Amino acid sequence: MERNVMNAPLDAEKFKAAVREQWDKHAQGWNDHSVQIGAWLRPSTDAMLAMADVGPGARVLDVAAGAGDQTLEIARRVGPSGSVLATDLSPAILEFAREKAQRAGYQNVDTQVADGENLTVTESSFDVAICRLGLMLFPDPAKGLREMFRALKPGGRACAMVFSAPDKNPCITILLSTALKHAGLPARDPYQPGGLLSLGKPGLIDELFRQAGFSQVATTKVVAPFRLPSVKDYLDFVRTSASPIVQILGRLDDAARYAAWTEIESKLSAFNTPAGWEGPNELLLTMGRRI
Ligand SMILES: C[S@@+](CC[C@H](N)C(=O)[O-])C[C@H]1O[C@@H](n2cnc3c(N)ncnc32)[C@H](O)[C@@H]1O
Repeated sequence: MERNVMNAPLDAEKFKAAVREQWDKHAQGWNDHSVQIGAWLRPSTDAMLAMADVGPGARVLDVAAGAGDQTLEIARRVGPSGSVLATDLSPAILEFAREKAQRAGYQNVDTQVADGENLTVTESSFDVAICRLGLMLFPDPAKGLREMFRALKPGGRACAMVFSAPDKNPCITILLSTALKHAGLPARDPYQPGGLLSLGKPGLIDELFRQAGFSQVATTKVVAPFRLPSVKDYLDFVRTSASPIVQILGRLDDAARYAAWTEIESKLSAFNTPAGWEGPNELLLTMGRRI
């Protein structure tokens, strides 16, 4: 969600209501890009599930599961003797996860609409909790991590994937700074709560894990280039997702919006390669254990 232009203090409940509305509205767009998103995040998802030791028989909580790409991979890994509960704030996007699991014949997947900061799951009932590219969107990620901790059995593992520092994720910074400039809005603190890069501040997510009660906290950085046939495919992904850029540019008239997208396209064309387009990204995988 787009934060107040003056960087006013965040009203968490209003913020989450707006996040839900945005993701409900853009659920179809995110789901339509499932193949590209799945390919983009496959190596980092494999690393995340390996760090959390997701294996046969595990009971896994998938927080901010979205359209369920990682949910299905977890269901495959845990097998019929394990299970996955996919949760998300947005009923519309979670419905895609439910449908996909059903179509794939996974009987070990359940879905539950839930705010990750206020999960209604039974205490100490999961072996693993994961959250792929969701936690940074929480207005109070510490609360989300406390909920994951509470849900875990003693010995259970949590692993979260978030974007790392702004300079390692240049497409996000270009999109945001160019959109703000065209909208006549001031630059933003990239680390402001609820933003895409909010947990990329060095050391922050480790500290939040520790404060939530986790032990053996460790973070691994992974490069995750987003490879697409052309820059236009990336812009199509951004336009149809719940990106804050879409909301910022939504306030402009057609001509001004066109000018903004033209400049964004020109800047992002810096990542054209002979094989297509490759947007650099770096992700953090942070793991902790409830002992
Ligand atoms: C970038 S998508 C990631 C979805 C999925 N995990 C994936 O990697 O494909 C972010 C998801 O976080 C969800 N989300 C945002 N804030 C949330 C909150 N407070 N509680 C639960 N889900 C939330 C959104 O509805 C959206 O589905």
